[in-house]
Amino acid sequence: MPRDPRHDILFEPVQIGPKTLRNRFYQVPHCTGFGSEKAGSQARFRGTKAEGGWAAVCTEEALVSPDSDFWPVVSQRLWDSDDVRNLALMAEEAHQHGSLAGVELTHGGVHGTTRESRWPAIGPSQLASDYYSWVVPKAMELDDIRRVREDWVRAAKLVRDAGLDIVYVYGGHSYLPLQFLSPFYNKRTDEYGGSLENRARFWLETLEVVREAVGDDCVIAVRLCVEALGPAGVELEEGLGFVRLADPLVDLWDVNVGSIIEWSKDSGASRFFKEGYQLEWTSHVREATAKPIVGVGRLTNPDRMAEIIRSGAWDLIGAARPSIADPFLPKKIEEGRYGEVRECIGCNVCVMKAEEGNHIGCTQNATAGEEYRRGWHPERFEPAENRDRDILVVGAGPAGMECAIVLGKRGFRRVHLVEAEPEVGGITRWIPRLPGLGEWGRILQWRTVQLSKLDNVEIITSARLSAEDVREYGAELVVVATGARYSADGFQGQTAGPLPGVETGRCVTWDSVALGRESPSGNVLVIDDLQDAAGPLTAIKLAEEGASVRLVTRWPMFGMETIPEVYFIWIQSRLYESGVQMTTDHFVEQIDGNRTTLFNVYQPDRKLEIDADWIVMATGRRSENGLYQALRERGVSVEAIGDAVAPRGTYEAVYEGHRAARKL
Ligand SMILES: Cc1cc2nc3c(=O)[nH]c(=O)nc-3n(C[C@H](O)[C@H](O)[C@H](O)COP(=O)(O)O)c2cc1C
Ligand code: SF4
Repeated sequence: MPRDPRHDILFEPVQIGPKTLRNRFYQVPHCTGFGSEKAGSQARFRGTKAEGGWAAVCTEEALVSPDSDFWPVVSQRLWDSDDVRNLALMAEEAHQHGSLAGVELTHGGVHGTTRESRWPAIGPSQLASDYYSWVVPKAMELDDIRRVREDWVRAAKLVRDAGLDIVYVYGGHSYLPLQFLSPFYNKRTDEYGGSLENRARFWLETLEVVREAVGDDCVIAVRLCVEALGPAGVELEEGLGFVRLADPLVDLWDVNVGSIIEWSKDSGASRFFKEGYQLEWTSHVREATAKPIVGVGRLTNPDRMAEIIRSGAWDLIGAARPSIADPFLPKKIEEGRYGEVRECIGCNVCVMKAEEGNHIGCTQNATAGEEYRRGWHPERFEPAENRDRDILVVGAGPAGMECAIVLGKRGFRRVHLVEAEPEVGGITRWIPRLPGLGEWGRILQWRTVQLSKLDNVEIITSARLSAEDVREYGAELVVVATGARYSADGFQGQTAGPLPGVETGRCVTWDSVALGRESPSGNVLVIDDLQDAAGPLTAIKLAEEGASVRLVTRWPMFGMETIPEVYFIWIQSRLYESGVQMTTDHFVEQIDGNRTTLFNVYQPDRKLEIDADWIVMATGRRSENGLYQALRERGVSVEAIGDAVAPRGTYEAVYEGHRAARKL
């Protein structure tokens, strides 16, 4: 299918300062967990996106001074010339594919944890960080201001000498330049505080010296959250005011919303934000500049992208997550291969992986972050040496489907994907039916299309195979991907067993409520031992339907596991809004019919008696591994993958299905 001519506009070149972008697809800066330490992974990860058609690929935050160190969050570093050798690798990979390479030069100011460098953090004023509340910086003296400006220039020259093309003077998510600009952080009374012009001075002076040093060779880009959507930054009007002031010094405006504490509003989860959500604010930047603008907002739809460019709001389509989920998104659109695009689902697993200092990962794209370490290419698959074999994959959930796709692409003679249910998909079939999770349907949708194109993969549904059936099937290799189930007895880690007295109460699992199989009403007790979004969102749903709901956890807060995915703020505010009563630090001692006794986990003698018509359990899962065990006992050559091995997130199931198929 040829490309729709309406999308031609996306493939026009764009001049930014002294350089030309070959099209309008721009990978904005984002963390990976690679930083300067994993130079090979960094270079190949960005290089793969360049190969996939992104006209520019940028690093994550690259720290210009030792007093700007975010450890344990892994960043790039530009403290000396050793650091720059690693960056040169990335530039080479980007240039090989005709893309520009950018570096997001950063100083974190008041948000510097400085756990690695052990320098004191610095900021415009001595105020505790709103993000890391234990960090109280030194208020910068004029010497400090001069020194940081020089650090920026030194770092910019290193970047230029390493062959990179785009140099950021990043203030973005309320980092140092934006801290000067924002009255929230800047309480100075000298020429760097007070009026907008004074608050802008540090950023403008830094831009001036950086431009003077490298402006003829490199693009000077500014990343700015034009609207903080909270107190820690600037409101749109002042954001636009700064754009007007700085415009003569800037080649490219990279604009977004939020701040570091409001990061959840920049990397908005699909549960709460729809595609293109940032345009409401960032489309106004055009009022203040005629220079090229790049914006973001989980954009994967080429019609929408073309519309934005035609409207004149932005010149470039920026992407972090869409480029992680599909590094070849631009190329696929360019070649009219629309059905091939693996669209981001907005789950923010990538944020969690990169933020916790791990290797980045992605639910949709198992190869993300593994381009160098494992040598996985998202679009190329080594033909298997033993491809003359037949393979049976039992279970067509996310692990089984991903495995069958990769086996098919590796050219195995016949791959049979057998599912006990009438439809494939497992958990990915029902998760999208939950409120706000429609986009998660893309996990199944993309895999269904891929499978339909593989002549050597046959899908058989409504076939529950026993060990004997599998043996009779005669496949030479067997993969078991039979998933996991939420335990109906409330099994969890606190008692290392079922909930005491579970058989006496009206107890149901959260997934049966989410799927509408059960409809608890009246007084409902929701017991959350998962610490993810499931317990709180079920409680909210029931409260909104009129039940009187109490949510209980043994932990000091709900949704602890959702903090790194930046969901937490949304979950917590919706819990308060919906009137759910919250009880932390408590767990179930005994269920006795309608009465449940809770105990305080720190002072077990303190009890709470709760009356509940229903008890909803967001507790442990167990692997469905009976078939695997039976096959092992019969000496069949079998491998288990995904939740059938141990219940985990969907992203791990996809990853494990992919990994098994790459190595078979
Ligand atoms: C894993 C991850 C890490 C990020 N790290 C950075 C960063 O280092 N610097 C930055 O300016 N923005 C960072 N961001 C924010 C993105 O650049 C972008 O503004 C945001 O995700 C919205 O764009 P998207 O909808 O295309 O993902 C990060 C985003 C993600 C998903
Ligand atoms: S992990 Fe989720 S949010 Fe991140 S890129 Fe992949 S699909 Fe998108």
